Amino acid sequence: MTVPVDSSFAPRGVVLGLASLVLDADADPARSRDIVRAAAERPLNQGGAVAIDTARAYATVDDETAGERLAREAVELRPGIPIITKAGHSRVGVSSWDVDGSAERLRRDVAISAEVLGGPPALLLLHRADRVDDLAASVRVLLELRDEGLAQRVGLSNANLELLESVAGVGRLDAVQNRLGVGVDSFEEYAYCLDEGIDFFAYAPFGGPRAAPLATRVPRVSALATARTTAGEPVSVHRLVLASMLDALPGCWPVIGPRRVESALDSLAASTLEVDDELREAFAADVYSRGVPLP
Ligand SMILES: NC(=O)c1ccc[n+]([C@@H]2O[C@H](COP(=O)([O-])OP(=O)(O)OC[C@H]3O[C@@H](n4cnc5c(N)ncnc54)[C@H](OP(=O)(O)O)[C@@H]3O)[C@@H](O)[C@H]2O)c1
Repeated sequence: MTVPVDSSFAPRGVVLGLASLVLDADADPARSRDIVRAAAERPLNQGGAVAIDTARAYATVDDETAGERLAREAVELRPGIPIITKAGHSRVGVSSWDVDGSAERLRRDVAISAEVLGGPPALLLLHRADRVDDLAASVRVLLELRDEGLAQRVGLSNANLELLESVAGVGRLDAVQNRLGVGVDSFEEYAYCLDEGIDFFAYAPFGGPRAAPLATRVPRVSALATARTTAGEPVSVHRLVLASMLDALPGCWPVIGPRRVESALDSLAASTLEVDDELREAFAADVYSRGVPLP
C-alpha cells in the first residue's frame, strides 16, 4: 500500500461530496467522473475542491466501493487531495442500509478504504454516530485506528451535542460532520466544535437536492447576487452563501453535492470570493431572521 503525501486540510475551502453522484437512481458514471475531475484538476487557489467526501455507504448494490473508487479519481489527478470517508454504514439493498459500529466492521471498512484510496484516508468518520449500539466503544476503535496509522484523522458524523459530550472523555476526536443547512439547523454542534478545536464539516449547506429554492431562504443574499450580476459581476446565490459561510464560520468546511460540472465549479469558486461588509451583513441578517443567530 502506498502512503499518500501529507494531506492536511487547507484552512479554508469547499469540499466536494459524492453521495448523489453514486446514489441517485439516474447517476451517470461518466458525468460523475467529469465532476470529480473538474473539482480536482482546478488548483485550490482557483476554486478547486479542498477535499473529497465519500463513504462506504455511497455504494451501488453491486459495488460497495463505488464511492471510494470515484474519490480515487481525484487522488490520481491531485495526489495528496484529502479524502474523507465514512465507516460503519453500508448499503445492503436498493434502498436499505445497515449500521454497525463494531470493531470488526470498522476495521474491515477502513482496510478496504485504504486499499481503494491507495493509503489511509485523511479523515475517517463513523457515519451514523446517532445509530450505533455503543458509541463510546466505536470511538475507542476509531482512536485505535488512528494510533495504528490506519486513518490520519478520525471523527463522528451525525452526532448531536449530547452524543458529542457523552464521548468527550473517551479521547480526542479530530472532526465532526453534521448537517448544517443555511438557517434550517442548529449551530450548537458547530459552536461546540469551534470551542473544542474540532474541525467541523457542514454537509448539505443548501439543504440538499429537494430543499426549497435557496433564494427564498436567503432573500437578502439573493438580492445581492441579482444586483451584482446586473452590474456585470455574474455571481450565484449559492456561491455567495458558501463564501459567507467560510467567512462567518471559522473551522467549518461546507460539503456540497452538485450533480453538474457547472454547479460544482460555480459553488467551489466561493473559496476565492472576497466577502465585503454588505454581503457579511446580508448573510447574518438572513440567517438571523430564520431564528439562528451566528455564533
Ligand atoms: N455524513 C452524512 O450523513 C451526510 C448526509 C448527507 C450528505 N452528506 C454529504 O454532503 C454532500 C452534499 O449533500 P447534498 O447534496 O444533500 O446537499 P447540497 O449541496 O446542500 O445540495 C445539493 C443541491 O444543490 C444544488 N447546487 C449546488 N451548487 C449549486 C449552484 N452553484 N447553483 C445551483 N445549484 C447548486 C445542486 O444542484 P445540481 O444537482 O443541479 O448540481 C443540488 O440540487 C453529499 O454529497 C455528501 O458528501 C453527508
